[in-house]
Amino acid sequence: MLGVNVPWYAALLALPVVLLYNWWRNPLNKIPTVGPSLPLLSYIGAYRFVYHAREMLQEGYLKHKGSTFKVPFFDRWMVVISGPTLVEELRRYPDDQVSFQLGTQELLQSKYTLGRQQIEDPYHVDVIREKLTRNLAILLPDVMDEIQHAFNEFISAESNEWIEVNALSVMAQIVARASNRIFVGLPHCRNAQYLKLAINFTRDVNKGRIILNMTPPFLRSIVARTLCPTSTTCKMTGRIIAPLVAERQQLQREYGANWVDKPNDMLMWLLDEAEGNETRLCHLMEMLLLINFAAIHTSSNSVTHALYHLAAQPEYIRPLREEVETLIGKEGWTKAALMQMWKLDSFMKESQRVNGINSTSLTRLALKDLHLSDGTHVPAGTVLVAAALPMHGDDEYYPNAADFDPFRFSKMREDGEGTKHQFVSTSVKYISFGHGKHACPGRFFAANELKAMLAYILLNYDVKFEREGVRPENNWAAMNIVPDPTAKVLFRKRQH
Ligand code: HEM
Ligand SMILES: *[C@@H]1O[C@H](CO)[C@@H](O)[C@H](O)[C@H]1NC(C)=O
Ligand SMILES: *[C@@H]1O[C@H](CO)[C@@H](O)[C@H](O)[C@H]1NC(C)=O
Ligand SMILES: *[C@@H]1O[C@H](CO)[C@@H](O)[C@H](O)[C@H]1NC(C)=O
Repeated sequence: MLGVNVPWYAALLALPVVLLYNWWRNPLNKIPTVGPSLPLLSYIGAYRFVYHAREMLQEGYLKHKGSTFKVPFFDRWMVVISGPTLVEELRRYPDDQVSFQLGTQELLQSKYTLGRQQIEDPYHVDVIREKLTRNLAILLPDVMDEIQHAFNEFISAESNEWIEVNALSVMAQIVARASNRIFVGLPHCRNAQYLKLAINFTRDVNKGRIILNMTPPFLRSIVARTLCPTSTTCKMTGRIIAPLVAERQQLQREYGANWVDKPNDMLMWLLDEAEGNETRLCHLMEMLLLINFAAIHTSSNSVTHALYHLAAQPEYIRPLREEVETLIGKEGWTKAALMQMWKLDSFMKESQRVNGINSTSLTRLALKDLHLSDGTHVPAGTVLVAAALPMHGDDEYYPNAADFDPFRFSKMREDGEGTKHQFVSTSVKYISFGHGKHACPGRFFAANELKAMLAYILLNYDVKFEREGVRPENNWAAMNIVPDPTAKVLFRKRQH
């Protein structure tokens, strides 16, 4: 009997020793932890992080501002840098030392949630940066037309009665329509099934990444098979868009790079840039859905956050309306008009400062050992992020940071600080869009689209909450911050 048991006892005794030894040897050990850091106990911290990321990040930031701390995930630690100096350092690292792509891949589990093909050649980033951003002024009338059409359909406040609107889901649908007017054009941007696929995909990616991050790595591909409908969604999207792609590829073959009435939209730009197997339908659909993911969930959250402020504090409606009305009257619905709407711009920026989209930014993977200026040593293979929300809420950088001060940034612009405080400007202290080389390339489009949506609301509706003056609390899922998805905003036709 003894002969059977001895190896078992030995293994049982050895296990804690091995765990402790590994723990002791781990170079990340020197970085302070929020929550328990001992082996196994850190799982409790990882569990806590799913529900209490806000408190844990805030605690870490306050204790270690100007330096780093770490928080537990189920299979790894995430190192959080705190404060502008280290943000500047992180964004300066070249791609071969610190990878944006691999960092996002880790946190998004994009191999499973977004599909494999986009990883090989992220050519969409240049397409967004160059083609989309450069065409904004030309494309704005189309976006505007779609915004008007979508609002009339989803919020048809014909009479003078207040109607209840499920704000987040309606904003998501309007954003999806307005964005896809530029991504695939008419009539597909109004195809109900296509839009549903794009919106469902966004939801599936977010659900998938949260669950996969809690799943042990060796089980991920199995879990993903049942959890992530990525390839089905791509196939179904393909069925809708295929005729459009085929027609354009035919014209490309016939006429080369240019022809009369060549469409000017995202799908066409992708077709122009795609090479080799990237021109295959499934690859193109993955790209299209990826861009929809990057655009829809961020933009619809951002505009809903701002709408909640507007509905909770109607006293802001008048100054904003005046600005919008004056400029639309002078310039029409143009990019130039939107650019001059400093108050509205400030309102959006301030809303993004206090609410955020996720509480961290600048997600990166260290490819080499890093030695940060505060003395922190970060081994290769570590995921790094910057604490965004705690910094945006720091009185040192934003006086009375806890207050929502809608015209904070426009006042700074009036005091002569110019474009530095625009909605789209990033800085070491404002990282909602990231900062540096990998800062969001879609932010110029997003800013125009979201300002146009709010301007449209201001001119055409009155808005309020049932309980006046009370803004619904934001929801949290790990690092993601979502405006209350159940809140209803009351809309009625604007009364003069
Ligand atoms: C309010 C809306 C938006 C917010 C808050 C937002 C935020 C962000 C953030 C924080 C990043 C990462 C930056 C970093 O880590 O340094 C990012 C990257 C990205 N965003 Fe956005 N975004 C928005 C809208 C859009 C739109 C409309 C598009 C597309 C049309 C888009 C496309 C992308 C892409 C492709 C990347 C990856 C960039 C790269 O690989 O270098 N985003 N965005
Ligand atoms: C979108 O998701 C809903 C809810 O899960 C589902 O009922 C619907 O069939 C999906 N639609 C499409 C087009 O995938
Ligand atoms: C696409 O082609 C590249 C090389 O041209 C290859 O490395 C890659 O595996 C191919 N991808 C797919 C999905 O076939
Ligand atoms: C934050 O949002 C951006 C934009 O969608 C996304 O690329 C990034 O992965 C998110 N980061 C985290 C940590 O969720």
